[in-house]
Amino acid sequence: MRKAYIDAIGMYVPPKIVTNQDLEKIMDTSDQWIRERSGIQERHHVDGECTTDLALKATEEVLEKAGMVAEDIDHIIFSTMASDYFVPGGGPMMTRRLGIPGTPAVDIRMACSGFLYGLSIAKAFIESGAHDNILLITSEVQSVALDFSTEGRDTAVLFGDGAAATVLKATDTDRGLLSVVTHSDGRYAEDLMMRTPSTLDNPLLTHALLDQGHGRVKMNGRSVFKHAITKFPQVIKEALEKAGVEKDQIKLVVPHQANLRITEAVAKRLDLKLHEVVYSNIHKYGNTTSASIPIALYEAMAEGKLHRGDYLVVASFGAGFTWGASVIKW
Ligand code: COA
Repeated sequence: MRKAYIDAIGMYVPPKIVTNQDLEKIMDTSDQWIRERSGIQERHHVDGECTTDLALKATEEVLEKAGMVAEDIDHIIFSTMASDYFVPGGGPMMTRRLGIPGTPAVDIRMACSGFLYGLSIAKAFIESGAHDNILLITSEVQSVALDFSTEGRDTAVLFGDGAAATVLKATDTDRGLLSVVTHSDGRYAEDLMMRTPSTLDNPLLTHALLDQGHGRVKMNGRSVFKHAITKFPQVIKEALEKAGVEKDQIKLVVPHQANLRITEAVAKRLDLKLHEVVYSNIHKYGNTTSASIPIALYEAMAEGKLHRGDYLVVASFGAGFTWGASVIKW
């Protein structure tokens, strides 16, 4: 049966590194608090670059790795929480930046689950025979929407900027995406949100709304934590069952890099050996939303942790709430 597989991944993070010590200078926080609560030591922030700047660099790398030119892309799936413009989204902008006008592109804004939703769309496109070569871009510029005063410290210390670009192709072999499961639940929308610009207001955006902090990311950290540690294990089990793969067959789990404490709690609930099976690189990048899984996959591959034929699980949880998991035979 025709399946979708991940052929190559490119990544790019902006060069500016912001350490916990840098944050200590601008808000009432400490390196110790951030490390203990999240495992994060540093993150990258843009310094003038926009979302498609990061996306372009990651795409240039993945095209080279996949032995492709931009014209070989059949369809772009673009995931971000913040595109260059409010409208249009990043997908059409990438056709301009890559010089491939006319290429179909779809934008998704599924927050930290953007990569999983992107995989589910790519899987459907490829398995149905509609397309052969999909470019899944996950590019996130969060630092411009964070509140770096002490008031915003619970959220601002957690997020970082970065991008990944993933090429998915068709195969008739037994490798590829065996299952992709996605969920959403809008009852908790306000627990992790950026409210403005919003159609709740007319006009969408005013100085008063910005002054009230509505243009910043707001989070109920405890609610996010509580739901994440429940939904991650549930959806991983669901994806394993759908794929017909046993937990003990899994060589690597690459969860969305939200927070090391969440990853630890999930590993414990699934009875997985944290340092052997579950990959984490959050200490270097913070939470890069939909880019975090492919960035972690890229680094896991570079470190020789993934071999052809291995069973891999990727899983996410984030704003919406949204969550998902996929079982992949590498
Ligand atoms: N530096 C220092 N102190 C901070 C701080 C910071 N950056 N952020 C919050 N605090 C303070 C709080 O104000 C609070 O102070 P108080 O006790 O005087 O009121 C104290 O630390 C404890 O706050 P609390 O919210 O109970 O901390 P916590 O143990 O729940 O950890 C999070 C907070 C955000 C780290 C935690 O809730 C979490 O990891 N949530 C999930 C976040 C996440 O992963 N989001 C993305 C999902 S995609």
